[in-house]
This record gives sequence, structure tokens and C-alpha cells, in this order.
Amino acid sequence: PDNGLARTPPMGWNSWNKFGCNVDETLIKRMADAMVSSGMKDAGYEYVVIDDCWHGARDERGDIQPDAKRFPSGMKALGDYIHSKGLKFGIYSDAGLKTCAGRPGSRGFEYQDARQYAAWGVDYLKYDWCMAGTQDAPSSYYIMSAALQATGRDIVFSICEWGHSKPWLWGASVGNLWRTTGDIYDAWEGVKDYSLGMLNILDKQAELQPFAKPGHWNDPDMLEVGNGGMTTEEYRSHFSLWAMLAAPLIAGNDIGHMDADTKAILTNKEVVAIDQDALGVQARRVSKQGDLEVWARPLKGGGRAVVLLNRGKTAAPIRVDWTMLDYPATVPAKLRDLWAAKDLGVRKGGYSAHVAPHGVVMVTVTP
Ligand code: GLA
Repeated sequence: PDNGLARTPPMGWNSWNKFGCNVDETLIKRMADAMVSSGMKDAGYEYVVIDDCWHGARDERGDIQPDAKRFPSGMKALGDYIHSKGLKFGIYSDAGLKTCAGRPGSRGFEYQDARQYAAWGVDYLKYDWCMAGTQDAPSSYYIMSAALQATGRDIVFSICEWGHSKPWLWGASVGNLWRTTGDIYDAWEGVKDYSLGMLNILDKQAELQPFAKPGHWNDPDMLEVGNGGMTTEEYRSHFSLWAMLAAPLIAGNDIGHMDADTKAILTNKEVVAIDQDALGVQARRVSKQGDLEVWARPLKGGGRAVVLLNRGKTAAPIRVDWTMLDYPATVPAKLRDLWAAKDLGVRKGGYSAHVAPHGVVMVTVTP
């Protein structure tokens, strides 16, 4: 069923990348506060999502309860707190018998859990795939999707099945976003198929371009910006590329303690606007010459967003030709550099820029 939600990619914060299992109500409230005070909310971030490890046991009726030590006030109160800040409340469960961290999964309790989440005021569910054995993925996700619909509450459904059964082929009829790979690792480049750095995940997205559309997004996993494993230049590239991919922008750092660079990256409104463009078309890789790539996506109104990406270790010039953007070479187009926040005038033919190692130049091109 199509729930009509997530017409643009969801934006928010999730506890997993930085805090793992160390979640409690004090942390989540602190993050909700920080979402507002840091300017993240103003920049468009909305969902505060508790990932794995919030769970306690099921009660005598089978209703799932939070860990009473970590969440002594209960989930309804926490949801109310998040809502009082003008934000939305997200939670995590699993389609199998147990979550990845061994907490109770939702298998066999889908309708009961969905009803419980709705009673708590949940607005977003990330649904994982651990301990699922031989379950069929599309059917497993369909059951929870139908259960969420049956609550009558608007709940964004995030499919986290790691791409194993090609969720881009069935995800749109079941949920709003689907993970396309295994977990992101806070590194520029990891070891392919083992620990996925930012570039390894990026490479997988190119072939999935046709499947993203309003309401239904490829999910290349949450952001690592600010978590310390990459340089500022690399984080700027990571964020720019996720915006080009129309990826969900789910921050995964401690937004209560951000340095100026991290905050400037996550809250850059012009870059966020590319991610949130109403056309909802994901970028394609329109040119690749060794380490030098050009990514482009069409924008509402006929313009293009372009990223010149230098994957290599030395600075290099990268050129985008208007023909790569499906424009005639002769068309005059206005150019704006988004990170420099600078208009670059009107050009014909194309544009070349010197790009720092592991860096990007991100521009809009408007004929
Ligand atoms: C899986 C998911 C992660 C995270 C953990 C929690 O690995 O892919 O994003 O939710 O489980 O245990």
C-alpha cells in the first residue's frame, strides 16, 4: 500500500552510528533539544529515531515494553517530548525473531507491535532483517506495512534488508525507503563487500538510479558526517553525494556536540535543497575518467545539480560539458557554486573546476 508519506527523502537523526546500544531517554531528549538549538530543525531535519536496544521484554499480553532502566518514563512520554519540540518520533524493530542486538523482534507480533507504536505516537519505523532465517523478505515487510496502515497513523516505513532480495524491485509497494547495502563504515573507502566505506556504497547506487521516486527512495544508509573517521573534505563529499542520490538525510553523529565544520555541512540549506528537490530524481554518474567523476540530477524547473568528484589523492581539474546534462553545448546557463555560496556567471559549453583530493565541487546549472 502507498501511505502517501515521504514525498521528499526523510530527514532526521538516528542513534546507531554514534551511540550503538547506548541509548536511553536522557540521550534521546538531549538529541531532540539539540536538533532545535543547533539549527538542524530549521535546516529541515525532522525525525528523531531510536535504533536498536530500546526494547525490554513483552508483557503478559505480549505487548512490547521499553527497557525500564533506560526509558523509565515510557515511550509515550518520550514521544510527547519529541512532538513538543515540533519533531517526529522514530523507532526500530526487526522482521525476524530478534533484532540484530538480540532484542525481541516483531515476527508474529506485527499487528500488536504496530498498534503499540501508534499508541506511543511513533511516526517512523526502521525495520531490520536479523534472525529472519528463511522468511521471504517481500512478504515479511508487507505484513508490517499492512499492520502500520491498519493503525490509521501516518508512519514512514524504512525497510532495512541490506539489499539482499533487491528491495528496489518491490520496496515501493511496501515502504518508503529501502537500504541498498550492508552497513556503512565511517571511512572514505572500505573493503568492498566486507566493510563498506562511503565510496563502496556510492558505487552500488549508480545502477539503482531508476528506482527512486517521490514516496520511495533508495537508502544508501545513514550519514557518518561528524563521527571522526573521515576528513572535513571527505565529509563534505559524503554529504554532497547523498544529496545528489536523493538519499534520506539521517544524521548519525552527536548533534549536541558538533564542531563548526560538521554543523556547516549538515545544515547547508542549498545542498539540502538539492536532496529535497520536488522532482525526486536521483543523480546519474554521467562521466568517469579514472578517479574523476561527474554526477548530475535534473531539478524541478529544468536546471541540474552537478557534483564533480575527485576520488584520487591529488588535486585535479574536472569538467562537465552541457551535453552530459542533456543540454545543447551552445545554451547559455547560469552557474552557482553551492559550497562557496557564489554565483559564477553565465557560461556556454561547460564548466571546469580544480577539485581537491577526495573533494567535490557542487554546482547548479540553469539555462
Ligand atoms: C543492522 C542495521 C544497522 C543497525 C543495526 C542495529 O546492522 O543495518 O543500521 O540498525 O542493525 O543492531
